[in-house]
This record gives sequence, structure tokens and C-alpha cells, in this order.
Amino acid sequence: MGQGWYIARMQTACSKDELRALLAPVRGKRIVLVPTMGALHEGHATLLRSARSLAGAEGCVVASVFLNPVQFDNAGDLAAYPQTPEADLQLCRDCGVDVVFMPTPDVMYCSDRSITLEETHLSTVLCGASRPGHFAGVCLVVNKLFNLVQPTDAIFGKKDYQQLAILRRMVRDLDIPIMLHGAEIVRGEDGLALSSRNVRLTPEHRAAAPSIHRLLVQAAAAYADGADADAVCASVRNGLNAIDGVRIDYVELVDAENLHAVTDDARPALLAVAAFFGEVRLIDNIELSRNV
Ligand code: PAF
Repeated sequence: MGQGWYIARMQTACSKDELRALLAPVRGKRIVLVPTMGALHEGHATLLRSARSLAGAEGCVVASVFLNPVQFDNAGDLAAYPQTPEADLQLCRDCGVDVVFMPTPDVMYCSDRSITLEETHLSTVLCGASRPGHFAGVCLVVNKLFNLVQPTDAIFGKKDYQQLAILRRMVRDLDIPIMLHGAEIVRGEDGLALSSRNVRLTPEHRAAAPSIHRLLVQAAAAYADGADADAVCASVRNGLNAIDGVRIDYVELVDAENLHAVTDDARPALLAVAAFFGEVRLIDNIELSRNV
């Protein structure tokens, strides 16, 4: 199999043809896809274990490990993104993955590709506003993965809440016959949401980063008790601004479904944060509702 690794019963495909050949025998069964960009951690492990239990013994779990250049709006961020392919394969095997798809950018994309896929409502806010082209790149690669793997199900983490909302919209609007599942955010014991970017934090910023979750939890309690959106966001901004070397990208309270300003208090809301801790951009969020 090309330059692929082979670990126990797990198989690795580096080309589209290898992937199709590996999946040919499981067509008609449940196929659960977990797309990743590698540098896998316990958050990914949780997604992979959920995929295993969803697929059952008869079904097939596919993980893709592909650092998608098309979704990076910043070349420095792409270059600094950690890559740990061998550890990733080990973790996939430990979590019961059947097939890992690990293409290079040249395998994934034609050099003269000319189709884009742009969501035009949910992606105009939050991360979409500060990372132009990011979600078009996500939609493009996920669509290609869906076409290549043809899964019955796919799992995405809720840390990237906006990404999940946009992919749900893509599946709905393009009639893609795949069931999407959102997995809860996995946190360290100190509350920091697990992210491949956390390893790039300085020790000082790593120690300060759990404040994001603490501030979100306090704000959620205040919102439940009746605080308005401005007060809630201000409390999180003030808390983050008090940390040395932190630059806020956004702190916003939005409708949890359409991601735009809350117009009806009775609907579920989302408090979402993106902030640079030094060079490292971290995101987190919490779902909110009013006490009745
Ligand atoms: O969430 C991610 O890791 C990526 O955006 C995804 C969904 C794997 C697409 O590259």
C-alpha cells in the first residue's frame, strides 16, 4: 500500500484509489467518518471512540488526517500547526479506527482546482469575520471527504461550534445523505478546551488559558439570572483583558442556531470567544439559556 503505515488491523490510505479500495468491502454498512487535521489529542480520541461505538462491530470507522491548507487564511498559522503523524496513527489504532486516510495536499487537490463552496450567512460572523475564506476551505475539504468516504455518519466537535453549524447547513442545503453528530467539548482538568494549538502556548499563557472557560461559566450563570448580552460580554472581555499578552479577537453572545444577534431571549444562545494568547489563537464557547 503506497507509502502507507500498517498497524495491526488498521489500514492506512495515502491516495484516493487506496481509500476507495479499502472501503469497497464495507459499502452498505455503517461508515462513520471523523475528519481531523492531525496533532490528535484526547478530544479527538473521544470523537474516535464515539465513532467506534456508533459503527459497532460490523461497521467501519474512518479517520482522515489532513492539514488542509485551503482553510488557513494565515501562512504562519499553517506553518506552525503541529504535525505528529506517527502518534496520530497510534492513537487511531488505540481508539479502534479501521481506516486512516492521510493524503498530501497534492493528492487532495488538483493544482488548477477552480470550484469554491461558500456558505453565505452563518460564516459572515465570529471566526468567519476574522478569518476570511476559512469556512469556504472547511466546506470544500469536508465535501471532498464526504464524496471520497461516502460515510453514513460524521462526527465533529462542538469546540468548533460555528464549523458544525455551517456543516449542518451544507448537508441540509446540498441534500447530502449523511447524519452529522456534534460531540461535547473535551476539557483538561483545569477547564481548558483541548486543542492541537495548546502545545504552542508559553508556560505563562498555558497557565492563564483556563480563565477562558472560568469566565464563560461565570457569564453563563449571570445570563441565566437575567444579565443582558452587553453585560455578559463585557464581563468576559474585562477578564481576558486583565491577562498579560492576551488580545481579544471577539467575545459575542449570539443565537445558538443562526449565530447572529439574539432577538428572542427564550431561544438558546451561544457565548463564543476567540482570543490570542501571544501568537496562539484559542477559541471556546458555552451554550446559554435563561432561568425560567
Ligand atoms: O475541525 C477540523 O479539524 C477541521 O476544520 C476539519 C473539519 C478536519 C476540516 O479540515
